[in-house]
Amino acid sequence: MPAISASAPGKSILFGEHAVVYGQPAIAVPVNQVQARVVVQADPKSQPGEISISSSSIGLNSGLVSLPEEHPFSILFSRLQIELGIPALPAMRLSIHSTIPMAAGLGSGAAVSIAILRAVSRFLGMPLDNEQISRMAFEVEKRYHGNPSGIDNTVITYAQPVYYQRGQPFTRLKVVTPFSLVIADTGIRCLTSDVVGDVRQSHDRNPNVMDKIFEAIGDISRKARQAIETGQNKVLGTLMNENHILLQQLGVSSDGLDCLATAALDAGAEGAKMCGAGRGGIIIALVPEKEATRVAKALDQAGSVRTIITHVENRKQAVTC
Ligand code: PMV
Repeated sequence: MPAISASAPGKSILFGEHAVVYGQPAIAVPVNQVQARVVVQADPKSQPGEISISSSSIGLNSGLVSLPEEHPFSILFSRLQIELGIPALPAMRLSIHSTIPMAAGLGSGAAVSIAILRAVSRFLGMPLDNEQISRMAFEVEKRYHGNPSGIDNTVITYAQPVYYQRGQPFTRLKVVTPFSLVIADTGIRCLTSDVVGDVRQSHDRNPNVMDKIFEAIGDISRKARQAIETGQNKVLGTLMNENHILLQQLGVSSDGLDCLATAALDAGAEGAKMCGAGRGGIIIALVPEKEATRVAKALDQAGSVRTIITHVENRKQAVTC
């Protein structure tokens, strides 16, 4: 059997993180400049069912059987066997290479899961469709993260800008006028499940206050959708700044994130906000395309450990391999 490879992009949440867990709409876009790539090949020297996984980028070099039952890869492979209805998997070697920084709010976990599901199902001659892949990646996230909204697996599987509301079919956003973002990384790593858990506790203590903030964030996502679909990109910057203030009120921003957001605005960005679960991870800044490199340099000087320039547009075809 020939080796098969597949990949999946990173993502960033433009509007609506945290509120999306509580049923409000959110907007997310793929970040194609970073990718998780998986290569699968047959391992004729090993017994059926023996699967070895090697990845320097995620720091894993192990047989699947040696991983604990609750490891996301263990969950992923047992779910895959059930979905495909096969009692045993052939011996395989997987190598995973990801340029998506882990625990930074760029969707590295979901992207690796999705690339594995794509590559292995194709290798077995039973390619899963996007609906199956997104659903299965979501199931893994649920077991691992507790209460994910489902936005990460959706935007990464379909590799298109999406408007997402829990429990409803997602919408592919029509981006009338493409726009540019600079992503800057604080280098601080925080587990999504911890931050989502803290927000849950705050919500339990102060449901009325927290619900008002979630609703205000939901309104921003609705306005942003309209702006994107009508080409009114100038409005997006203001909406980003407003969203950032509401995330500060939720208690999920941090000095490092606020500092980078301010540095982006000082350098001429039209808007900036933290992105993803928060506390650490990344900010995104909306920039005129010709200013992107200059803003990225200013963010490097302000302490960003990595900057990425990405363009939000509708791609004809999802990046899958
Ligand atoms: O930090 P990330 O990339 O895992 O994004 C989390 C987004 C949240 O809204 C905080 C959680 C969720 O499941 O939507």
